[in-house]
Amino acid sequence: MQTKHRVCHLSDIPIRDMRCVSLADRNVVVAHTDSGVYVADEMCTHEDARLCDGNLNGTLIKCPLHGSRFDLTTGKVLDDPAEDDLVIYPVTIENDTIFIHLNPTDQSL
Ligand code: FES
Repeated sequence: MQTKHRVCHLSDIPIRDMRCVSLADRNVVVAHTDSGVYVADEMCTHEDARLCDGNLNGTLIKCPLHGSRFDLTTGKVLDDPAEDDLVIYPVTIENDTIFIHLNPTDQSL
């Protein structure tokens, strides 16, 4: 059974912008795109770089360190040097609050 975790207020993140948010057991990046809100693990899958310090272009997020891009709709990595996909969390929005839903198998970071 999934558990629901509050992330932040939608109104705290301007459209076409993103920010990193620390939750109890993981750090995530929240992207407010024209086509919706996406929440992913904060760190690039290549090395230690916070994706919220990179660039957001539509639903593509670009790592600030070596430039790999990830598709926030799927988590797929699009460019070298990163090889592993990004973890993307299911999102719901209630009133102005963004929630993610975790499975029991989701590992703490
Ligand atoms: S740390 Fe992100 S591409 Fe290298």
